[in-house]
Amino acid sequence: MPPEAITPHRRHGSNAGQPLSRRDGVLKATGKATYAADNHPEGMLYAVTAVSSIARGRVTSLDVAAARAHPGVVEVMTTANRPPLAFDPDVKMGPFGFRIEALQNDKVRYVNQPIAVVIAETLEAATEGAALLNPQYEVEAARTGLQDGERFAPDSVGVGAPPSSGHGDLEAGFAAASQIVEAHYETPSQYHNAMEPHAVVAQWDGDRLTLDMPNQALVMSCMAYGAFFGIPAENVLIRSPFLGGGFGSKAILNGPQILGILAARMMQRPVKLVLTRAQMYGPVGHRGQTWQTLRLGLDGEGRLTALHHKATSATSSFDQFLEPAANASLPLYASPAILAEHEGLRLDIGTPGPMRAPGEASGSAALEVAMDEAAVACGMDPLAFRLANYAETDPANGKPFSSKALRECYAEGAKAFGWAGRPLAPGMMRDKDGMLVGWGMGTAVFPCPHFPAQARATLRADGTALVETAGVDMGQGAWTVLAQIAAEALGLDPDKVELRSGVSSLPDGGIAGGSGHTASAGMALHNAGEDAIARLGELAINDPASALFGAGNIGLEARSGRLHRRDDESRSESYAEIIARAGGADVVGNGKMTRDEGAAAAYAMYSHGAVFAEVKIDPDLGQIRVTRLVGAFAAGRIINPKLVRSQYLGGMIWGISFALLEEAIADRRTGRIMNADLTEYQVPVNADAPSLEAILVPEEDSLVNPLGVKGVGEIGVTGAVGAIANAVWHATGVRVRRFPIRLEDLLIEPKVQNFQAKA
Ligand code: MOS
Repeated sequence: MPPEAITPHRRHGSNAGQPLSRRDGVLKATGKATYAADNHPEGMLYAVTAVSSIARGRVTSLDVAAARAHPGVVEVMTTANRPPLAFDPDVKMGPFGFRIEALQNDKVRYVNQPIAVVIAETLEAATEGAALLNPQYEVEAARTGLQDGERFAPDSVGVGAPPSSGHGDLEAGFAAASQIVEAHYETPSQYHNAMEPHAVVAQWDGDRLTLDMPNQALVMSCMAYGAFFGIPAENVLIRSPFLGGGFGSKAILNGPQILGILAARMMQRPVKLVLTRAQMYGPVGHRGQTWQTLRLGLDGEGRLTALHHKATSATSSFDQFLEPAANASLPLYASPAILAEHEGLRLDIGTPGPMRAPGEASGSAALEVAMDEAAVACGMDPLAFRLANYAETDPANGKPFSSKALRECYAEGAKAFGWAGRPLAPGMMRDKDGMLVGWGMGTAVFPCPHFPAQARATLRADGTALVETAGVDMGQGAWTVLAQIAAEALGLDPDKVELRSGVSSLPDGGIAGGSGHTASAGMALHNAGEDAIARLGELAINDPASALFGAGNIGLEARSGRLHRRDDESRSESYAEIIARAGGADVVGNGKMTRDEGAAAAYAMYSHGAVFAEVKIDPDLGQIRVTRLVGAFAAGRIINPKLVRSQYLGGMIWGISFALLEEAIADRRTGRIMNADLTEYQVPVNADAPSLEAILVPEEDSLVNPLGVKGVGEIGVTGAVGAIANAVWHATGVRVRRFPIRLEDLLIEPKVQNFQAKA
């Protein structure tokens, strides 16, 4: 399909700072938004993957004849007939490139690995055909946990971070300590569970490929798909107008989608492939399990003398993504010595990947509980303890913070929560129903990554503008916010700016990930808008017929669709007038992500926050309810307070999920995930989400980027997990160090007696 035939999704923008509602909100709520799997090109076939039920071994036979004989089935793709790939799926393409299963051999390396693809005229036929394959295996024992996994020293963690980092003399720090607090923590495997499953509708036209798929990194993915299929990246067109949740899992390539594209090539017809919920537990990434040890040295005043954070992070047998959990201890608390180190653990699981605040979430969960334990050991209030260890410069490198709003987050959050009334000892508070009440807190922190991004802004003869960037709205409201940024740069009113996005043929908008999309694509749009305005200004100041003629050295201001002379407000001209006199041609500006690289190198840049939690626990049943969460966050300039608040609330709810509910449980005997569905894989429902408050702490940070924008997507989860766990301790006196916290953790004797006795 030629690019001009595409109708990309369109949005209208507004001015920055306004709490606009998402323009896609009504479309989504009324079912009018079209997701990848809603596409039905003519002649389309359905592909269904058959997946392994073992975790390790090889496939010895598949009853291809039975599947092929099923009415409606047109082909079965196996290792025997799958078309060649131009790039070896067992080779790592880059930091975001994972080794994948694309039927390259008969090996099974995890449960739910694709082992065949059945292609049929209907979804039902393909599904039934896949069920007839009756796979036989040579089974090897699955390695499912710390007890049988293979430990190794990694060369990197996360996306290219060093496995070991720190500063200072750790041993000297511990030697100087008057007491040492040490504890072990565990976080489980968690799966992204986006509402929209990973899907692809693939169409080949000669060596041109069109993909309807949810994708967090459009242009980067075109390069990767081009490499896999041996075609130029420009020949790949990805359309991702709506995306039903990504959380990191749609930023990476995966085997099933590659297989769907291969099926389309094999059949020379459009093919749709959609994963089932259960099939998403394996080939599309997850948050890897961690085992963490924290050791904190403390002096007599409650200050850290040494901080040692060690994490064992699970990965697959064949690739490496290690949850960089220990690195959460690097940028936050002032300690003369900090060491964060990681080891890897190879298991027979699908390769973990980035999942909302990868490393920060699991690492800060452990760190914030450890800080709470240290506060208790020092007999200090947890907030006072954190303030005693407040870092004035980045502990990791001594660089000054680009802004110091964390103190305000602590103060505003504590005030709104009512923290001052908190008794120091646990088990002291009950509500009128006799429930045990506990209050806990945690610090939130997230870095400010920026990605390369480009954009185009076109001023049109009618005085409106079109702005374009291949950005991705995965539910966070990116397109509403990006349009607001562009509208501001263009000096246009809300409804005069049209945004086109979500299609890879547009200027590269970078990655929707790392909480860096608004800053990155936003800066590109801001610069494109300013460029277009500068070009428009040139047309006016050099035209003797313009009221702005000769204003070159004086300067112009763009406002409400008019250019004004800075020295004389009465001398102005509308964009439409200027363009009309110049012949009516569009005025096109281009921009890319820019920021002061010197400042980026000289300063430490983070979003910050503080989260306060209240839990109520039934003393007889151990049932835990989060009843209040208050988060105060500082993340630079807020482009849209309504959407930012939603991001924080969503992050904090994710914190409830992490603290109390989420866990994928593998059967030790087979490695199969026993709760690979949304019935038994627990996430919070409305009844689990309490009174939530997100406070937007004002912060001006002109160093992070010219817009002053920081990320808000992932920080919400980082403080909330520890806050809730600490509140559970405060309610009961029971310290739980394994997530999720279960009611049985609180019931096992003699703990229940302990907290009943205190009441
Ligand atoms: Mo995210 S885990 O940076 O999509």
